[in-house]
Amino acid sequence: MPLATSKDVLLKARAEGYAVGAFNLNNMEMAQAIVQAAEEEQSPVIIQASQGAIKYAGLEMITAMANVLAENATVPVVLHLDHGTDYKQNVKCLRAGFTSLMFDGHELPLEQNIAMTAKIVDIAHSVGLPVEAEIGSVLTIENLLTDAEMAEIRALEVPKQFEVLRKKIGPKVDEHIARPEEAKRFVDETGVDFLAAAVGSVHGLWLDIWPLRVDRLKEIYEATQIPIVSHGSSGVLIDRAMAEAKGVELAPGEGSLKDAIKLGYTKINVATALSMEFNRAMLAAAAKRPGEKDPRKLLGPARDAVKEKTKEYIRLFDSQGKVGVVGATSAAAFGGGEVARGEE
Ligand code: 13P
Repeated sequence: MPLATSKDVLLKARAEGYAVGAFNLNNMEMAQAIVQAAEEEQSPVIIQASQGAIKYAGLEMITAMANVLAENATVPVVLHLDHGTDYKQNVKCLRAGFTSLMFDGHELPLEQNIAMTAKIVDIAHSVGLPVEAEIGSVLTIENLLTDAEMAEIRALEVPKQFEVLRKKIGPKVDEHIARPEEAKRFVDETGVDFLAAAVGSVHGLWLDIWPLRVDRLKEIYEATQIPIVSHGSSGVLIDRAMAEAKGVELAPGEGSLKDAIKLGYTKINVATALSMEFNRAMLAAAAKRPGEKDPRKLLGPARDAVKEKTKEYIRLFDSQGKVGVVGATSAAAFGGGEVARGEE
């Protein structure tokens, strides 16, 4: 089927209380793995490309791959721009055939973030495309810790890792959490469709170790009533039942990814966990076959491993078997609407 829009799949997910995975692709194998996983689980899926991935593979190549994968799939597939940091990047993706956009203006003052988001929403909505935007800041682990600090932390036992992370990055992460009144103003003034609201996650973390401020998420969802997007999902505590084993003592207002899906998280972005799985499997294959000449012998196992990991996430988000879309707003159905007299 043709590419669906994120609105098609996310409104249905919100109404029915599950979330849809938005998985970052870096190459053809990852794109295939993600869509194959969705196909096997009969789940809608969002494949998303960062600006880095677009630079690496080329915009036309990414769009062509997504179109071929969607055309051959029996489940809805969306192609989303992840963290588009300017107007032109969004326009280029809209023109290339992406079916979902993102403007990430979190580094701008609120007024400017609102103004640019509104401008992008205006052009996107004129051709039936939905837009996501970010408020508060989902920080990146590389900006919080040096490589040496990260290596030191990763060498510790898991509960100790959490203790050190909490002390070293916790206060900074808290400072950047989105505020409900700002979120409401942002949504009212921009008309954005989905909100990437920072509620305590960190891009690039590991081990499903980090709790979310679900109290803040609940307030933001209640204030805005639009699907909330999870960024930095690879390191988030998945389930309260895991907390003890990871040494996580939940503070009041904190919770897990599963709690968050009940409270408004609807699009869940996963990048680091899939990239790490790809590299792990590829390196394991290389270690088993020293001197291997055929790259497919290394990339094939990596593709299989990413598929299995994606299926785990799909089941965690509870989107398996949920293949319908809301309305008929797929990208193939742009246009329509009442024609006023005199405009015939
Ligand atoms: P992770 O790399 O932490 O999974 O975050 C992905 C993300 O938020 C992409 O926008």
